[in-house]
Amino acid sequence: MEQNRAKFGGKLSAVLVAAGSAVGLGNIWRFPSVAGDNGGGAFLVLYILCVVVLGLPLMIAEFSVGRATHQASVGAYRTLNRRWTFVGYNGVLAAFLILGFYYVVSGWTLEYLFQSVSGTITQASTPEAYSKIFENFHLDPWRPVICAWIFALMTHAVIALGVQKGIERISNILMPLLFVMMLILAIHSLWMPNSWDGVKFFFMPDFSKVTAQTVLMALGQAFFSLSIGLGCMVTYASYFNRETNLRHTALNVSLLGTLVALLAGLIIFPAAYSVGIFTPDTSPTAGPALIFITLPAIFNSMPLGSLWAAIFFLLLVVAALTSTISLHEVITAYLHEEWHLSRKWSNALTTASMLVTSAVASLSLGVWNHWRICGLTIFDTMDYLTANILLPLGGFFTCIFVGWLLDKKVLRNELSNEGKLSCHILPLLVFLLRWVCPVILAIIFLDSLGLFR
Ligand code: PHE
Repeated sequence: MEQNRAKFGGKLSAVLVAAGSAVGLGNIWRFPSVAGDNGGGAFLVLYILCVVVLGLPLMIAEFSVGRATHQASVGAYRTLNRRWTFVGYNGVLAAFLILGFYYVVSGWTLEYLFQSVSGTITQASTPEAYSKIFENFHLDPWRPVICAWIFALMTHAVIALGVQKGIERISNILMPLLFVMMLILAIHSLWMPNSWDGVKFFFMPDFSKVTAQTVLMALGQAFFSLSIGLGCMVTYASYFNRETNLRHTALNVSLLGTLVALLAGLIIFPAAYSVGIFTPDTSPTAGPALIFITLPAIFNSMPLGSLWAAIFFLLLVVAALTSTISLHEVITAYLHEEWHLSRKWSNALTTASMLVTSAVASLSLGVWNHWRICGLTIFDTMDYLTANILLPLGGFFTCIFVGWLLDKKVLRNELSNEGKLSCHILPLLVFLLRWVCPVILAIIFLDSLGLFR
């Protein structure tokens, strides 16, 4: 298996490819809106805690499982312990559901990029008008679906190029571009008058808004934005070469992910306060519409608005693409390795199933809005079910498996690259995976289900 398996080339590639998966709409679209609704700075603190205490050890664990076996998630768990194959399946299911709604939001970014380039984005004048544009876009039965489909086909094209020529090359080009664009936009936002109010809103912790639900949200957000708990990092690590330093890669990916989430907040909130869409007296509700309604209104009131809008939405498209590639790869690699289909057919089957799933998710926000599961639209159900249930569960079982059952020799080998690197952190890692992570995960999870009330 190992000899003829595709491998990512350089040292930096592992970081860029994994960061490509991690950095996405989760950091730029989901994070500021969830943080804005859940106490701003307080949420930020919880999020960073979740990344450090739970996210990092889990990412290292997933990397080790993937590289030790050189197989995608289902095969990897099966090879290590047949009874734990279900963790792999849980991940493939989660990837399928996430990708279904992720394509929808990615499609919106494409639509808004078109609108920015054509200049129509700066034609409305009030936030209400932008809200109406967003609503009308959703009520159109076809347009959002077609945008999601275009995105799925773009992803398909990259996967079709293969692991090295597609995934690795695209990540190496797009990730640096993304950081440069974000830096430019953040500096621009901070330069605007009254931007400080936005910075204060973003960093000022309001612990009165913190409930068990907030903690679960921070956890879900950390897992979602680090792409862990679903075998995505297992699958990517199966393409890492023997020289890749797993600890450093995990650390760099988590740092980059957090940095991008911070930059996204620093792009959005200062600008929102500066143009008066948010004010210090009205505590704003952010919500998912933040980027698609509030931001266009913000761009509109800036000189060269269409240009800034075009840069921003291009950035979102880039971030989304490197993430959809990784989710698509989880399913494609699963079909290729488990169903023994060729990569070409696995890719085609993944794309075909996604065309259907993303269309359903998209229509559930428009013409099928009345179809509800426990009051949530199909789209919101897919989001909630994955971020708040399947990923924490996947994370929980990964900790138990790697912490308690996996032969420590495997872990030591992976951490030290067969003895070439020091592995002082092994005892700490095992301690976190055995005790800290599962206990915290279990408490947060059970509490969110209302078991302690
Ligand atoms: N981490 C990605 C983001 O933040 C989403 C994602 C989740 C990608 C799970 C792959 C796996 O947008």
